[in-house]
Amino acid sequence: MAKLELKDIRKSYGSVEIIKGIDLAVEDGEFCVFVGPSGCGKSTLLRMIAGLEDITGGTLEIGGTRMNDIAPARRGVAMVFQSYALYPHLTVKENIAFGLKVRKVAADRIEELVSEAVTMLQLEKLTERYPRELSGGQRQRVAIGRAIVGEPETFLFDEPLSNLDAELRVHMRTQISELHERLKRTMIYVTHDQVEAMTLADKIVLLRDGRIEQVGTPHDLYERPQNLFAAQFIGAPKMNIFELTGSFEGLRAAFRLDRSARYCGIRPDSLTIAPDGEGALAARVRLTEYLGNARLVHADVEGHGSVILEQPAGAEIATGSRIALSARRDSIHAFRENGNRIE
Ligand SMILES: Nc1ncnc2c1ncn2[C@@H]1O[C@H](COP(=O)(O)OP(=O)(O)O)[C@@H](O)[C@H]1O
Ligand SMILES: [Mg+2]
Repeated sequence: MAKLELKDIRKSYGSVEIIKGIDLAVEDGEFCVFVGPSGCGKSTLLRMIAGLEDITGGTLEIGGTRMNDIAPARRGVAMVFQSYALYPHLTVKENIAFGLKVRKVAADRIEELVSEAVTMLQLEKLTERYPRELSGGQRQRVAIGRAIVGEPETFLFDEPLSNLDAELRVHMRTQISELHERLKRTMIYVTHDQVEAMTLADKIVLLRDGRIEQVGTPHDLYERPQNLFAAQFIGAPKMNIFELTGSFEGLRAAFRLDRSARYCGIRPDSLTIAPDGEGALAARVRLTEYLGNARLVHADVEGHGSVILEQPAGAEIATGSRIALSARRDSIHAFRENGNRIE
């Protein structure tokens, strides 16, 4: 069993606190993604779980056992890094087997484990190659193979796909998802990419500046962002946010929003162009971007700035034209002055 529990976990470097009290449970077999902007503390938190960084305060439990002071090798975790960290002078097979040899696992057992991993990761034709003879995606598969053969209860991934080109990233993402399906082990995956978080996670942990902003399923974070930060971090293009003051007071009535609402958010695919010109917001089209399956329209709203809306690819919208925007009431997200969601 590898349920993880973090209780008020903290990390300081000198007098600077980087991780500011994290409470979190990761269930056995769950795919949990830590996501957030660069520098928010994702890697630090993951490395504390791995045992590569000391824990300044709080308690880390894995499978009900306190792990704060347990050596990394005895936590039942394996980590896969962005940099692959392969040994250049060892072949693919030797790289995958290395940790097992160090642990003096019997030779026939090593053979068995390596061969299973090689098959699972489709590395059969590459076993005698050296890392320099492999593509980025192949190297990353070897790094994952090295983690698999250790039969960890928990896999820790730190931005494993960041060095790959876009197409390969999508391919490897599905492979990691399938690996989770097959192994059914607990996985914690760090990324700054909200698309990776949305596609891979059972549970997303959204971090900002050493604190948790929201924990939930991808659906929770998209449909019910708990604050303005979550609302704007998840979803691309970003949610449009309007402050309900001055000339935008009118939106409060138009969308029948509560008095406590200070901001309202509307996703680009929820904003529509009112055919009769009678919309809640007047805007002028600045430019449009054709994406094949959709068209993104960037429009200026006086006193607010730019908004983005997503239209069907075939929509004919001339640059410079005036449009009126509206949205369905049930697609509106409302937030208080402190940024927290209402309802
Ligand atoms: N060894 C260190 N000494 C001092 N500050 C550090 C150290 N490692 C990381 N930090 C700081 O901790 C913060 C979080 O870093 P990190 O966990 O790497 O962020 P992320 O992985 O989310 O990009 C950053 O502000 C970084 O500068
Ligand atoms: Mg990092």
